Amino acid sequence: MLRIVVLISGNGSNLQAIIDNIHDDEIDARVVAVISNSDEAYGLTRAKQAGIDAFVVDNANSTSRSEYDQQLQQQIDQYKPDLVVLAGFMRILSDDFVNHYHGRLINIHPSLLPKYQGLNTHQRVLDAGDTHHGASVHFVIPELDAGPLILQAEVAIHNDDTAETLAQRVHEQEHIIYPLVIKWFAEGRVKMVGNKTFKDDKELTPDAAILHLI
Ligand code: GAR
Repeated sequence: MLRIVVLISGNGSNLQAIIDNIHDDEIDARVVAVISNSDEAYGLTRAKQAGIDAFVVDNANSTSRSEYDQQLQQQIDQYKPDLVVLAGFMRILSDDFVNHYHGRLINIHPSLLPKYQGLNTHQRVLDAGDTHHGASVHFVIPELDAGPLILQAEVAIHNDDTAETLAQRVHEQEHIIYPLVIKWFAEGRVKMVGNKTFKDDKELTPDAAILHLI
């Protein structure tokens, strides 16, 4: 069984999708802990409702990023995870932390990476006049939002879209692709080798990571 620790900072809708899909699709995986950097994250309530250990590691006692990350790592490692899932965890992680979880740390980002790394992706996509937007699941490497892609979902942009309507449609796709990637992990179908994603023992080209759902 794949042991998963999920890190969150907010609403936790992706966490919920992962919990629900593991249950509904009988995926051989279990979320063993949910950790937040904020005690206001609603995702903590979602986790507790699902009977999952959920708690805050706050940065009040840490003087530096690396100190915080070490505390976080200690808490995570108590749960002996096979996979650490960033689900709206809004902190930049130190290189040591990322390297410690090499090949077993994944993130979801609300854009078609490598486009629109960083924040406010929905508004930036609209401002640029793009026709398509989406979400990406990728392995985490020390360089921010730059790790090898595993799966992307694309959504078409409508003329009357606002950042809110677009965010909502991107979220719907996130809730499909993140659980699917976790299913692949549970089945041993994806891994990172030398900063590249391999799926079913074949190197995944960036094009192959895009799933056209709409
Ligand atoms: C998601 O849209 C995720 O892609 C984004 O935060 C949201 C969390 O929503 N992550 C990032 O922007 C990371 N750079 P949720 O708390 O409802 O799952």
